[in-house]
Amino acid sequence: MSKVFITRRIPEPAESLLKGKGFSVSVSFQDRVLTKDEIIAGAKGCDALLPLLTDRVDGSAMDAIGSQLKIVANYAVGTDNIDLAAAKTRSIAVTNTPGVLTDTVAEFALSLIISVAKRIPEADRFTRAGKYEGWAPELFLGSDLKGKTLGILGAGRIGYEVAMRAHHGFGMHIIYNDIKRGEELEKHTKAVFKETTEDVLREADVVSIHVPLMPSTEHLLNADRLKLMKPTAYLINTSRGPVIDEVALVDALKNGTIRGAGLDVFEFEPKLAKGLAELDNVVITPHIASASEETRNKMSEIVASNVNDFLAGEVPENEVKEA
Ligand code: DGY
Repeated sequence: MSKVFITRRIPEPAESLLKGKGFSVSVSFQDRVLTKDEIIAGAKGCDALLPLLTDRVDGSAMDAIGSQLKIVANYAVGTDNIDLAAAKTRSIAVTNTPGVLTDTVAEFALSLIISVAKRIPEADRFTRAGKYEGWAPELFLGSDLKGKTLGILGAGRIGYEVAMRAHHGFGMHIIYNDIKRGEELEKHTKAVFKETTEDVLREADVVSIHVPLMPSTEHLLNADRLKLMKPTAYLINTSRGPVIDEVALVDALKNGTIRGAGLDVFEFEPKLAKGLAELDNVVITPHIASASEETRNKMSEIVASNVNDFLAGEVPENEVKEA
């Protein structure tokens, strides 16, 4: 009987689907991020490890789990928590859960754009605090989106859907940069390709980040690049925290280098850079862009099929290869 270890309770149906297929499934009873040693202890002797994006799985963890480990099936679309090269060397398959969270994350990115541009959380705090004394012509002046330019960094599935909603729903112009041209994006949103990240930063009124985290995208938004943005621009991040130098961003938000930011991810999650939480021109949420009930259930279904298909000798639909 093949054994599976899940590092934390996740929404159904993964556990019951896998049990139904005859797997022996154990789930960590700790409702928290496990230490590396705890992951190893829990997964020892298992054929499949089902980690979360908060679990680091490197080569030494794979070795310590044992040579019967055949698949690491991440409960996330991002796989920056897994050492893909180490998995490849050991012939361990790595899978993720793409597709099902695209719409949810795109909706969330749009929510952050609207929240920060219209200053909704700030105005909500103000109103709850009993500070509203009557309508005033300059109370919480925000920004309009219609006719403004949205710059997409990383035009994969999620970047595409954000652009579609922003263009067709809000009348925004789209510019983008990616390692490859997005023909569909250009066709459906009249998006204009920009040769460099810098070109996008200089021209966009809102910049939304959708690149995966890898060595080439770490601190993609550093102090120098933040300075290229318009002082009226907003920066949105629903990808991975380390793509932004968060200390530099706090400075940029304090000094008026940019007008605001909407962040669902943080460089040293769950910690926030010093001063970030005190700023009114940033909307911050705790990495919940994919957290709809429907999506988290579908991710659970996919993760179970990835494990089941692979251990049944088939090629899993969502195998991730080293870039
Ligand atoms: C992912 O799946 O990578 C997302 O960040 C989860 O919210």
